[in-house]
Amino acid sequence: MGEAAGTAAPSANAATLAAAPAAVNAGTHAGTNAGTNARNAGAAGALLSLDGISKTFGATQALHGLGVDIAPGEFVTVVGPSGCGKSTLFNIVAGLEEPDPGGSMRFLGKPCRAADLLGKVSFMPQRDLLLPWRTVIDNAILAVELEGVRRADARRQALEMLPEFGLAGFENQYPHQLSGGMRQRVALMRTFMFKRDLMLLDEPFGALDALTRSMMQRWLLDVWQKHRRTILFITHDVDEAVFLGDRVLVMAARPGRVKIEQKVDLPRPRRADIVTAPEFIALKRTLLDAIEEESMKSFRASGAPGGQA
Ligand SMILES: Nc1ncnc2c1ncn2[C@@H]1O[C@H](COP(=O)(O)OP(=O)(O)O)[C@@H](O)[C@H]1O
Ligand SMILES: [Mg+2]
Repeated sequence: MGEAAGTAAPSANAATLAAAPAAVNAGTHAGTNAGTNARNAGAAGALLSLDGISKTFGATQALHGLGVDIAPGEFVTVVGPSGCGKSTLFNIVAGLEEPDPGGSMRFLGKPCRAADLLGKVSFMPQRDLLLPWRTVIDNAILAVELEGVRRADARRQALEMLPEFGLAGFENQYPHQLSGGMRQRVALMRTFMFKRDLMLLDEPFGALDALTRSMMQRWLLDVWQKHRRTILFITHDVDEAVFLGDRVLVMAARPGRVKIEQKVDLPRPRRADIVTAPEFIALKRTLLDAIEEESMKSFRASGAPGGQA
């Protein structure tokens, strides 16, 4: 499939990135309770509140009665079996799909429809969506350019950000000349340049080798702490979910909903060796049990005999 606008995901992405000129700016929540008190934030203090969200596609119920509150500045990771509606949830929060009638959504305390969120969040879909004919710098500025920032101004901003994203000196390279980790950093830089309170990252490191992935995780935490964004992050990897998150949401097998919200009380900044700490391993055990239970459900539902591989 080509990367040009016109295929479903890229055009959806462009729509998300380009719309809503009056969107909320990053920094609005600087100094608020980053990452703390999330579970009790409730609709009052939450950046985003979802309640009773369901979504049906024809005969498939993707989500059923999903509820969650996301606090300003929080880093929330989302895990769950394949097909449980994680990307559907992101499409709703990005404003690309309306949920079924009956649920409610609030952004910054105000009731809203999904469509009202279009352009108020920055969204990095699962595929990196770099345009092969654009250089690093021109890929990075794509979203802000689409919302009307002059190319020269956008380039100037991007040049300043390149070192932080480990891309200094690579501004004129094309995507095929980059490693997988670098391509992901270009896509992330594009998402960060589109300054919104809420960032949605759909398995951004899924395709990377273990070493690159662990470097990228630490790097993302540094960048997150500096830029004070709120992040919702989908991953298949429980280690990654615990290492990054203030809170891990485990989704139930389809129809998806939040099955468990697990607070991660590990100190920050987090060092790479935290993964061997007993607290880390205990959290991981709890989450793995929950995920395994849900994965077995979806495996059986898929018709696999006796749930055997
Ligand atoms: N646009 C769509 N039309 C029809 N079915 C869809 C659509 N989007 C998702 N689905 C279905 O909804 C379910 C959840 O999909 P998805 O949100 O992509 O799951 P996940 O990201 O957790 O793997 C799947 O059964 C998928 O086939
Ligand atoms: Mg998905």
